[in-house]
Amino acid sequence: MLARINDIDVHYEEHGSGEPLLFIHGFPLTGALWRPALAKLPDGWHGIAPDLRGFGGTSLGREPVHTMELFADDLVALLDHLGIERAVVCGLSMGGYIAFALWRRARERVRALVLCDTRPAADSDEARHTRLLTATRARTEGTGFLARELLPRLLSPVSARRPDIVARVESMIADTAAEGIARASLGMAERPDSTPWLVTMRVPALVVVGADDAITPVGEVERLADDLPDAHLAVIVDAGHLAPLEQSAVFNHDLELFLERIGAQVSGPRA
Ligand code: MLT
Repeated sequence: MLARINDIDVHYEEHGSGEPLLFIHGFPLTGALWRPALAKLPDGWHGIAPDLRGFGGTSLGREPVHTMELFADDLVALLDHLGIERAVVCGLSMGGYIAFALWRRARERVRALVLCDTRPAADSDEARHTRLLTATRARTEGTGFLARELLPRLLSPVSARRPDIVARVESMIADTAAEGIARASLGMAERPDSTPWLVTMRVPALVVVGADDAITPVGEVERLADDLPDAHLAVIVDAGHLAPLEQSAVFNHDLELFLERIGAQVSGPRA
């Protein structure tokens, strides 16, 4: 599906009907990250998984830097376009940074949170420097280096031996143009520290992390769950940074239990 909002064409996938659940992918991926979750969404739920500005099938627009706030504004506009007032917001890694921005800008649109393999902190100086380098390399070399350099850090040892998972991640990375990668890298470098906001996030939250996550290690994600007023932590064995893709059955089960807890009419998984 395509939606024309904020002067860009947003590509999104959706599944089911009922209570809205907005999925936000990580970097340098696309909404396809959430296909296993969309396919098994419990009855009574409407899942929406957009490609963020500059990723996959969504156009770039004119902004030279894609800040987390800009992404959040696009998502609010997408919810408006779909006639959705409030949604459960589920973000992975950069998608989590965007969920924090969404909360800062439009918390009334957030019914509950699912935060996967993410952190509230801003970048260190060193991480910021790496972002700038990534932007420059994407613009000068293209995006081939991303799959080579990131894949070993994204996946658990078990997932790295699964050709289906490796192929899915490679294909998502290949689907994004270099300029989208560059602008999102610059945007992540600019993001503020969301830690002071955590106490204000008084909505039910499910916090998920892969036990083998090398990018947002378990200890850091545990602290995020501790600092949120109403969070449940799920540590997923044999998953790395992409737990919802790597161990989709386990993630889908945890998600279903959470959705039951927050009270939609969940009548069992789809066949
Ligand atoms: C992601 O998966 O979105 C990235 O690891 C986020 C980041 O680079 O900080």
